[in-house]
Amino acid sequence: MKKAKTVLDIRRQYEEGVRITMLTAYDYPMARLLDKAGIDIILIGDSLGTVVAGYDTTLPVTLEEMIYHTRMVVRGTEKALVVADLPFLSYQVDLPSARLNAGRLVKEGGAHAVKLEGGVAMRDTIRALVDIDIPVMGHVGLTPQSVHRMGGYRVQGRKEEEARRLLEDARAVEEAGAFSIVLEGIPAALAERITAELHIPTIGIGAGVHCSGQVLVTQDMIGLCDKFSPKFVKKYVDLSEVLGEVFGTYVREVQEGAFPAEEHSF
Ligand code: KIV
Repeated sequence: MKKAKTVLDIRRQYEEGVRITMLTAYDYPMARLLDKAGIDIILIGDSLGTVVAGYDTTLPVTLEEMIYHTRMVVRGTEKALVVADLPFLSYQVDLPSARLNAGRLVKEGGAHAVKLEGGVAMRDTIRALVDIDIPVMGHVGLTPQSVHRMGGYRVQGRKEEEARRLLEDARAVEEAGAFSIVLEGIPAALAERITAELHIPTIGIGAGVHCSGQVLVTQDMIGLCDKFSPKFVKKYVDLSEVLGEVFGTYVREVQEGAFPAEEHSF
């Protein structure tokens, strides 16, 4: 068995005040790179719907697709904790189907934990999964599966009433037994307050620096997705530009007969 991080290691790290690192991966090579770089948690996000499959939202992503991608990531991971997203409609319908679908991500996909979106409304669901020993990461704030209710991908919790509700949501996730929670697209001051009130690690994305850890969608931070990039994304490298040049060079060299050269031939 691989000696991967567990939720207990993440807990210890949180208690020791060491910031938690998380990035997304959807396949074997990316998982290997992240794992070798020492990432704490690899998330198979349902963001694969937008950054890999090319959908406008995460809503069409199916459980079968999540299992397929989770398997690839698990094969490429030695040390990181692997968390897989429960896609839209795989956990909201009823508790038995939530248990079954989360169980499939663990049993067939090989994930160590699952993530689901929602706060107070998901309390019983989180509890039901935790009760059958499936660790759960919560996710509140800008929850992409709620895009139609939110009227787009907008920062949440700017108004006092909204902020109060988000705090209740985060508390509900903790009370239900989640081992950690993603705070997405909320003001930094609110994320700081939630982080201070909770006793589980908060992982921020577009939520400022005061969270217990940070997550980004890898395709965004390496510039592999040339669609709209939110303000909170730091592009560490622009791979679209680099690869655009590489592919252009290949096309030209093949057209000119410069590739393959002697050393690439038998
Ligand atoms: O789907 C995803 O990649 C996520 C992260 C943005 C947290 O939920």
